Amino acid sequence: MRINTYSEYEIAYRKSVEDPEAFWTEIAENFNWIKKWDRTLEYNFDEPNIKWFQGGKLNITENCLDRHLEKLGDKTALIFEPNDPKETYRKFTYRELHEQICVFANVLKDLGVQKGDRICIYMPMIPELAFAVLACARIGAIHSVVFAGFSAHALADRIIDAEAKVVICSDGLNRGHKQIPIKSTVDEALENCPSVEKVVVVNRLNWPVKMKSGRDIWYQDAIKRVNSDCPATEMDAEDMLFILYTSGSTGKPKGVVHSCGGYMVYAGYSFLNVFQYDNEDIHFCTADIGWVTGHSYILYGPLLNGATTVMFEGIPTFPDPARFWQIIEKYAVTHFYTAPTAIRSLMQSGEEHVLPYGLDSLKVLGSVGEPINEEAWRWYNIHVGKERCPVIDTWWQTETGGVMISGLAGISPLRPAHAGQPLPGIQPVLLDGEGNEIAENDKEGYLCIKFPWPGMLRTTYGDHERCRLTYFSTYKGYYFTGDGARRDENGLYRIIGRVDDVINVSGHRFGTAEIENAINQNKNVVESAVVGYPHDLKGQGIYAYVICHNQPSIDEMQWIRASILETVVEQIGPIAKPDKIQFVYGLPKTRSGKIMRRILRKVAEGDTANLGDISTLLDPMVVEELKAGVVL
Ligand code: PRX
Repeated sequence: MRINTYSEYEIAYRKSVEDPEAFWTEIAENFNWIKKWDRTLEYNFDEPNIKWFQGGKLNITENCLDRHLEKLGDKTALIFEPNDPKETYRKFTYRELHEQICVFANVLKDLGVQKGDRICIYMPMIPELAFAVLACARIGAIHSVVFAGFSAHALADRIIDAEAKVVICSDGLNRGHKQIPIKSTVDEALENCPSVEKVVVVNRLNWPVKMKSGRDIWYQDAIKRVNSDCPATEMDAEDMLFILYTSGSTGKPKGVVHSCGGYMVYAGYSFLNVFQYDNEDIHFCTADIGWVTGHSYILYGPLLNGATTVMFEGIPTFPDPARFWQIIEKYAVTHFYTAPTAIRSLMQSGEEHVLPYGLDSLKVLGSVGEPINEEAWRWYNIHVGKERCPVIDTWWQTETGGVMISGLAGISPLRPAHAGQPLPGIQPVLLDGEGNEIAENDKEGYLCIKFPWPGMLRTTYGDHERCRLTYFSTYKGYYFTGDGARRDENGLYRIIGRVDDVINVSGHRFGTAEIENAINQNKNVVESAVVGYPHDLKGQGIYAYVICHNQPSIDEMQWIRASILETVVEQIGPIAKPDKIQFVYGLPKTRSGKIMRRILRKVAEGDTANLGDISTLLDPMVVEELKAGVVL
């Protein structure tokens, strides 16, 4: 299933479009199936109803672990690098990882977890997080990992939506110099979550935490009751593997659902080909497993290919901005995969932090999560890759399961700030405003995908209609990504950014409505409107226009601003804090009450010379006030 040359890519691509079922059948045969599937694909994009490899039986952990044991049992599967470089790292061979996962799976079984139960995992980047995720998959429980930076409120929303039976967490987490509580946040969340029966707590900080009797159990105690023998549960290809919550243009995050068979095939295939993985390579993806990148390219993709994957607990700037380079040198990392935000921030710290480290082991550099600007791309290429390593810009989404548009490292033509060409099996199109396909190159349009691929989402948990409305109703017969893109004269795609009310802050997605809902919880606030604006480090910053009950004086503004930030932290988490807050008397609304966000965006961007037609506004004077009060 590995593509080795550009002409092999072209052949594979052609085949994948001419006969997608034959193409994916051949790929899927590289995995272990307990029973082979009867039908490769059944689909329609109207309901939507998407089924891959129907009738097939498998367990993804057998493909990630068991099948490697004979030949790769003693190979390192997972390297854990702690937050503090002075703390000893931990390594797990495939055999050890297998054992750890079986033990964790037996703990879950012992607690009464059954196939189909939802398990919420709210943990720092420690090995037990990886064990927990794979333990769920081992026994057919559906994992829902929630990024540990989310607040109790946001965690509760996700637990309630998934009706999780068990929560797995730690006492607390390390983040640079700080230690942050986790268990107490879970306790707060669980005040409103009746579905949760048990909480498993992993000890990370040796913190004294409150344990609720009958509900909470320490992981180190639970493992004493179980052994390491845990046969994998047989799953249907279309059974749910996991739920991962992501933001959309409405207020409430949605649970994107991935299936066992299709996700496995796509995560495994895309990892191998995009990164051009070779047997001895060491893969370091800096994402958190709380996001899809961590699911697909720290855990499932690498393990499906028998690779060695590095999991890093800390942050790029602790104890100094050389942390990533030091890790690369320490483990002779070959593949480094990070986000443009991190690259921009390390670029700002200066190349003097990169130079002292031996980065000769590097073969491939990757970028993901947001558009990478040319300057950052070049810095990455010159100072990290020493102009020897292909820099791949990988475009994809939580919903797509794996990379969709990207160069294949070392094989495809690369152009800075361009994701490039689609992977075999992926059929992107650009649509114009009327929903017509744009055939020519050197054009811009709405990025849609016109044929299913195995890694695509199947539904949004508990609300299939929402899945249809969000992704399949804007353009009939297409999956709509929510992104705008340009195809250059050679057919390479460049992702421009979101065209819906979603902003991408440091590679994290937020619905503007989600942040507005949070701000509106503050008792001083009557109404708010949030837009993104270009931000040097984060890609996009969060700009909030806020109407208070009484327009605050200059003195009051300071504490109301602080109070609003606190509310956002409580409702969502620190990552959603607005960068700028402008207090206003009114918002630019049409006579029908719709906020004209275009104007808000322009003002936030500082581009007030060209606001376009404002005559349809209920009160055009509002615009003058906005312009006068813009926060720079
Ligand atoms: O706008 C695109 C942007 O991130 C969105 C998906 O976010 P999420 O589901 O959180 O997944 C992020 C990691 C896969 C997309 O709709 N995005 C992702 N990768 C790129 C990107 N924008 C430009 N270039 C990319 N390489």
